[in-house]
Amino acid sequence: MKKISSSSPTKGSATRAPRRLIRQLVHDLHGYVPGEQPKIKGLIKLNTNENPYPPAPGVLAAVRAATDGRLRLYPNPTAQPLREKLAKLHGCAPENILVGNGSDELLALATRAFAEPVPPIQAGGRAEASACTVQFFAPGYSLYPVLAAIHGSRTNVVSLDAEFGLPPLAVLKKSRAWDFRAALTYVTTPNAPSGRGYTRAELDALCAAHRGVIILDEAYVDFAAEDALPLALKYPHVLVARTFSKAYSLCFQRVGYFVGHPDLIAALNKLRDSYNVNGLGQVAALATLDDLPYYRANFRRIIATRERLTSALTEAGFAVRPSQTNFILARPPGLPAGEWLEKLRARKILVRWFPNSPVSEYLRITIGTDAEADTLLRAVRAILKSPV
Ligand SMILES: Cc1ncc(COP(=O)(O)O)c(C=O)c1O
Repeated sequence: MKKISSSSPTKGSATRAPRRLIRQLVHDLHGYVPGEQPKIKGLIKLNTNENPYPPAPGVLAAVRAATDGRLRLYPNPTAQPLREKLAKLHGCAPENILVGNGSDELLALATRAFAEPVPPIQAGGRAEASACTVQFFAPGYSLYPVLAAIHGSRTNVVSLDAEFGLPPLAVLKKSRAWDFRAALTYVTTPNAPSGRGYTRAELDALCAAHRGVIILDEAYVDFAAEDALPLALKYPHVLVARTFSKAYSLCFQRVGYFVGHPDLIAALNKLRDSYNVNGLGQVAALATLDDLPYYRANFRRIIATRERLTSALTEAGFAVRPSQTNFILARPPGLPAGEWLEKLRARKILVRWFPNSPVSEYLRITIGTDAEADTLLRAVRAILKSPV
């Protein structure tokens, strides 16, 4: 232990210039850019895949009932009651489940737990490339490269096929572009931003060929034909990520979870903050699981609206990708996507556009209510009538 000398000189403020106190990695970082959250009256918000329907009445009542003097107390540190209830739902043990502050937190923990940072050259460190590799398909969830960059790992990005399908296993093996030994691989399934769904069988084949950890990010799976949750219980290196945000109308509360092998879950558990899931979020998620039929009815409504909107936009000249999510990816006719974004915005309709991406010709449109879909269609027809 060092002794403190009272005569130690105070350094000049120049050496403490804030910019010089920041690590180079952080200087170089391009942070994640979330979709806009404007609070403009009358705005139709179809840009961040939120559910247009409110949480079940029982969820709102449970949150209200918990909003009292107990807010001064810490919540359950491991979200134990929620893990128990989720375990029952998925036919596994609480040890297979880790709850996070949204699934985003869990994706970040996984990067830290499974991938090595690339060692600095000046340290002379050499690490096997695969051990430092975070891998994913493109296009995919745009948070993955940011998480790898924050951790200082390298990324390996391989394109999906022209229809946003997974390249066949034989092709991946032959091309050598894909690293079956990568420390961590993310697969967005169904895919975002395309909406394309994948079968459990093709995901099973991909997982079986892998040596490193695979995360099947099922943020939108409740709107899809198939899920791959059993793979998290079949393979020790597979984690499935789920969220209460999208299908369960709970973005505001930030609750997501991983299902996977107890050894992986225990490792991740060591890295998380002690009270990572806020108390009201736990209350809301527990009450959500008491009312699954309410949510399943909403999934059906959203899917019906999605199909109707797909047909109507296709008729209007849009190239709409088949979707198994609560959004569609649509290439608008006539004008570039960025101009469509502005024209819709002028009519108080907010959608998402990803410039500088493989889908820059498209708009991603969240499925809202039927009334919102009708307003969108009216706006689209008006823009087509007078495009300038
Ligand atoms: C593919 C995908 N995974 C994960 C998330 C994060 O969800 P959460 O709200 O649980 O952090 C999102 C949110 O947009 C997403 O699109």
